[in-house]
Amino acid sequence: MLEENYGLTCTVKELPGERDRNYLVRDSEGDSYVLKISNAGESQDHLNAQISALECTAKLLEQGKIPQVFPGKNGELLSRVCTNNNIKHWIRLVSYVDGITMAEYRPHTREFLFEVGLACGTVTKALQDITMQPSASKHLWEMHNAIETIQKYLPCISENKLRDLVNQSLELYSKVLTPIESELRHGWIHNDFNDYNVLVVPKLNETPSIGLIDFGDMTHSYLAAEAAVACAYTMLDKPDPLEAAVHLIIGFHQQFPLEEKEIKILFPMILMRLCLSLTLGAYQLQNAPENKYLGISQKPARELLEKLQEVNHRYAHYLFRDACGLEACKVTTEFRKWQKTATGSFHSLMGEPLTNKNTSMLDLSTGSPISAKLQWMSIDEQQEYLERILLEMNAETAVGKYAEVRSVYAAEEFHHVSLEGVEKRTIHLGIDVFAAAGTAIFAPLEGIVHHLKDNNNKLDYGPTVILKHKPKDGPIFYTLYGHLGRTCLRKLKIGQTVRYGMELAVIGESTENGGWLPHVHFQIILDLFDFEGNYPGVALPSQQNLWTSVCPDPGMMLGLGEKSNNQEIDYGNLFERRKKVFGPSLSLNYQQPLIIVQGQAQSLIDHKGQFYLDCVNNVAHVGHSHPRIAKAYSDQAYVLNTNTRYLNHINIKYAERLCELLPEPLNTCFLVCSGSEANELALRIAFSVSEQKDVIVLEEAYHGNTNTNIDISPYKHNGPGGNGPPEWVHEIPMPYVYRGLHRDAVTAGKFYADHVLKICEKLSLHGKKPAAFICESMLGCGGQVPLPDGFLKQSYQHVRQHGGFCIADEVQVGFGRAGKHFWSFELQDAVPDIVTLGKPIGNGHPIGAVITTQEIAETFANGMEYFNTFGGSQVSSSVGMAVLDVIELEGLQQNSLETGNWLKNNLKELKQTFPLIGDVRGEGFFLGIELVLNPDTKEPAPLHAEYIVERLKSRKILLSTEGPGHNVLKFKPPMVFNHQNAEQLIGELEHVLKETPLQLHLY
Ligand SMILES: Cc1ncc(COP(=O)(O)O)c(C=O)c1O
Repeated sequence: MLEENYGLTCTVKELPGERDRNYLVRDSEGDSYVLKISNAGESQDHLNAQISALECTAKLLEQGKIPQVFPGKNGELLSRVCTNNNIKHWIRLVSYVDGITMAEYRPHTREFLFEVGLACGTVTKALQDITMQPSASKHLWEMHNAIETIQKYLPCISENKLRDLVNQSLELYSKVLTPIESELRHGWIHNDFNDYNVLVVPKLNETPSIGLIDFGDMTHSYLAAEAAVACAYTMLDKPDPLEAAVHLIIGFHQQFPLEEKEIKILFPMILMRLCLSLTLGAYQLQNAPENKYLGISQKPARELLEKLQEVNHRYAHYLFRDACGLEACKVTTEFRKWQKTATGSFHSLMGEPLTNKNTSMLDLSTGSPISAKLQWMSIDEQQEYLERILLEMNAETAVGKYAEVRSVYAAEEFHHVSLEGVEKRTIHLGIDVFAAAGTAIFAPLEGIVHHLKDNNNKLDYGPTVILKHKPKDGPIFYTLYGHLGRTCLRKLKIGQTVRYGMELAVIGESTENGGWLPHVHFQIILDLFDFEGNYPGVALPSQQNLWTSVCPDPGMMLGLGEKSNNQEIDYGNLFERRKKVFGPSLSLNYQQPLIIVQGQAQSLIDHKGQFYLDCVNNVAHVGHSHPRIAKAYSDQAYVLNTNTRYLNHINIKYAERLCELLPEPLNTCFLVCSGSEANELALRIAFSVSEQKDVIVLEEAYHGNTNTNIDISPYKHNGPGGNGPPEWVHEIPMPYVYRGLHRDAVTAGKFYADHVLKICEKLSLHGKKPAAFICESMLGCGGQVPLPDGFLKQSYQHVRQHGGFCIADEVQVGFGRAGKHFWSFELQDAVPDIVTLGKPIGNGHPIGAVITTQEIAETFANGMEYFNTFGGSQVSSSVGMAVLDVIELEGLQQNSLETGNWLKNNLKELKQTFPLIGDVRGEGFFLGIELVLNPDTKEPAPLHAEYIVERLKSRKILLSTEGPGHNVLKFKPPMVFNHQNAEQLIGELEHVLKETPLQLHLY
């Protein structure tokens, strides 16, 4: 048939299809096509409409994204063929659209779903150029006949529960549709934008390309149905189906703006599409139980329908309105107007008006010192702290702001599983007024008691009152009062009228109010949805528009005006200011950099209060913002912070404690301010004591940001913008068993040390000696590389035999990080002459140290003084000692050993499943995961590494890449990283490793 009609010599393979029979055709030149043999009942008009649709769409979509129809030998796009039993069919030959189905493609990120929406909107826009008139015949999947079709085929569903679900959906659809039906726009639509018709060409670190096939169900119907159908399939199998729909709608609306009425019917139409699929699926299955294709989306569609039945349809409507750039809740504008006119007429909530004089705003936002401190305090301490703040501010009442981003809501109840893992509810929707338990609160206006409930779970509202208000000249709304004393639940009765200014309740004790500092949470609610007696008081940042629309700012009602409304950080503005004020050599992480405003143990918290698991910040050794470190800093800052020119017990004690941690004869300490300074001083000592200048370094090493450190750091001087090494710096190959010059783990240590020996011998030939050999005890910038056995010990021997000094750079890898030992040079059974410390020892405070032998220190004291203004200051020393205390008290070295081992074993297991992982290496909390395109050739996979880092960031895990090939994922978290964190990391990494783009380019 193909030869006869199209002149093709080819191979043919059947593809799935519901109405047509489809065949994949490959010709002798390797080009691919699809032959479509239409159902015998298919009309020529409908086929012509499809051809016209493809022509129109081709004008707006890039080539290759939709099928192109090829003419036959006769020059026609449609040809007629006849079967043996004389049945006539139309055939078409179309181009093969590249890609995998959206159903198979992962991940369905917000950005991806937006792209799908854009594609869907573009197609809809294109189809409006079709000039053909619609035929009168009815089509089963048409939305404008949905009620009739569903009712007709409903009996095919045998299960009562499912029939009930369908009936409820029908009821909702009819209710919403009836008043607006005549106003809904009609036009040509594809009508089957489902996840098997959407084809995706995956790309690494780029937006995938979206194509579309199968215009066989195209029809003339409600235009809104196009978006509804696409949503219905996109929502399948999603943790939060509405979130998926929202992102698709944002894209769709950008290309093909929806009207308000269309947005209103969208959610019920989504339900209708699912019901059509379920009823027609049941009917078709009855007739052809063996056809697997028919049943393909039945189970997920049913699960989705069940899930959506739980959703309040107005909530979905508001979400969709917001996605289309409208005020989420229509009543809000009217309410705001009324509230403005009613200003001044409200009774004070607290009896006394909240004025500038007696009231102070309390900054409880993420990133505020108050909220950071409160989290470590008991309720009594919180109370005392608040009283102190009020005293300082000369105020009687403290007010917590509306729309403030708060990360205090850490409990599971505030977690929401989104498209990208957990999102926390952090946007405060009410205003908090802090006052003593027992303080009376009053109704700001007349209302009716609508709900009374004791929400007595920990961190909930405790006793709660919700009043309903029907102002004469404004919309109906509700006010919520949370964290009350229990007596109001007895005193008030549901349905009771509450007069203006009536005493409603009193502020509850911490023991009854959900465990909070005594306060009242006051919130305005314009739509209660289906909540009874409880209501979200904090919202997801991704739904901030919706919730702040439904729960507008109550500041005006409380007499606070605008001042209790939180001012948001403007991302774009911050970005521009940084670009202007900092030089461009200071880089930012991630394609879309994060705003980080707070640290907490092993987490960094962004400006929306979202927690990121920090797997890379080894500087925050004992955890971000550790209270003991903050206290040590603050306490000493009150007392003394000066240099080492006076006798003082604090810096001496700190130096003694550091020296005690090192093996003899390393017992003499210099305190400095950074790792760079430490290495700078170590070199100065080595130059001075040896009276030599030559230094032996490792390929790819990094030792700091000063000029001399750049000279001894091949990672910098051999990298972009570098000028190569000066003549006194000699580089040996990186001792890298996985990929380096010597790969036999047993002999590699000796062979790499031989390179050190060779340099020493070469120097001798020129009458010189090495001043120093400097080496990290595990390699950081080199790609998280542990040294092969025996390398340091033998290298040290060679260097010492030739008169040089051995410097161990423990800036990254010291202080218990290696787990097995406190210092990483101990892994090598070697003792250096000079050790340099930095990063972790101050937990973020700039402290560094050089520790050497007394003999070396004495020789170094040749008359030229060493002075450091800040090194060894009392504040730094106190902080340093607090870090040592916490390491010990919290057993952090042991944690690094145990959790690090567990993690390494599990990473090794992942390596068995994913050939992308070429190597897993390291010790304790200093691990590297090297990614390769092929385990045999070990070709580095930097783009895959970048993809993983970006995707993990989206899933709220911070990792980064390292190594000369930028293909090593580096893991060096705060040492408080726990087992649960390790499980989370493994789970998320496994999730991402399965994603489609990571399967590209592997061979
Ligand atoms: C191994 C090593 N040594 C020294 C330094 C320099 O430390 P700092 O940046 O604190 O001066 C670094 C910094 O990354 C480092 O990784």
